[in-house]
Amino acid sequence: MLSVEAVSKTFGGVQALRDATLSCAAGEILGLIGPNGAGKSTLVNAISGVLKPDSGSVRLDGRELTGQGAEACARAGIGRTFQNIRLFKDLTVRQNVEVAHITCQAVRPDKAARIGIDQLLAQYELDGFADFAAGTLPYGSQRRLEIARALALGPSLLLLDEPAAGLNETESEVLAVAIEGIRSEVGCATIVIDHDLRFINRLCDRLCVMDQGQVIASGETEAVWRDPRVIEVYVGQSETS
Ligand SMILES: Nc1ncnc2c1ncn2[C@@H]1O[C@H](COP(=O)(O)OP(=O)(O)O)[C@@H](O)[C@H]1O
Ligand SMILES: [Mg+2]
Repeated sequence: MLSVEAVSKTFGGVQALRDATLSCAAGEILGLIGPNGAGKSTLVNAISGVLKPDSGSVRLDGRELTGQGAEACARAGIGRTFQNIRLFKDLTVRQNVEVAHITCQAVRPDKAARIGIDQLLAQYELDGFADFAAGTLPYGSQRRLEIARALALGPSLLLLDEPAAGLNETESEVLAVAIEGIRSEVGCATIVIDHDLRFINRLCDRLCVMDQGQVIASGETEAVWRDPRVIEVYVGQSETS
């Protein structure tokens, strides 16, 4: 269970997060949505230790992780992908997955024993490229490799920052099925950021809507879409774009 309480973060004069609060339980798929600049990536960066919040707390299964850094968060079981892909580009595809698996073996050997690297590579259609440098892969394969690497960590929490960006409708559907498979096989809590609302609504049990650094609504997907504040943010956006 992830529990984020009143996290704030300012960059220079920009308040990227204002008392952002959310939770996500094991086995749940939570959609994190909101306009560009709402603070979604900053929140995921604060949860995964990539940046240190100015205030507030991040706890996973009761364990305090606030400000402990990305490596500590990975060791605690937070796997993630990035809005702008961040692979070890000069390592091979297999090595990218192995690095995460080694971390898992060190901290959660029981979970690591259940993860097959070959199986992950096959499942994410990467077996044909296993010995290629990750940076040479086509875009869609790099996105799949980021997910495979996050899963090799044996995550309790999986954070996916715009995983469907740049995918067509068929590819997005394949990805949605894969994320549902992760829920049933790994049982982790999953947070998905995406602008494709069809993809989000089809996939997510609950939504958390952000605007200007704040969480303005959260709850079950259908109920959130009836919330006047959410309608205002989305209708206002379509009127101005
Ligand atoms: N490293 C940074 N330095 C300065 N400003 C940043 C940085 N990261 C994000 N911001 C600002 O914080 C706000 C929230 O950004 P972000 O979390 O990327 O939004 P989203 O992912 O919802 O589009 C934006 O105004 C953005 O310009
Ligand atoms: Mg973002």
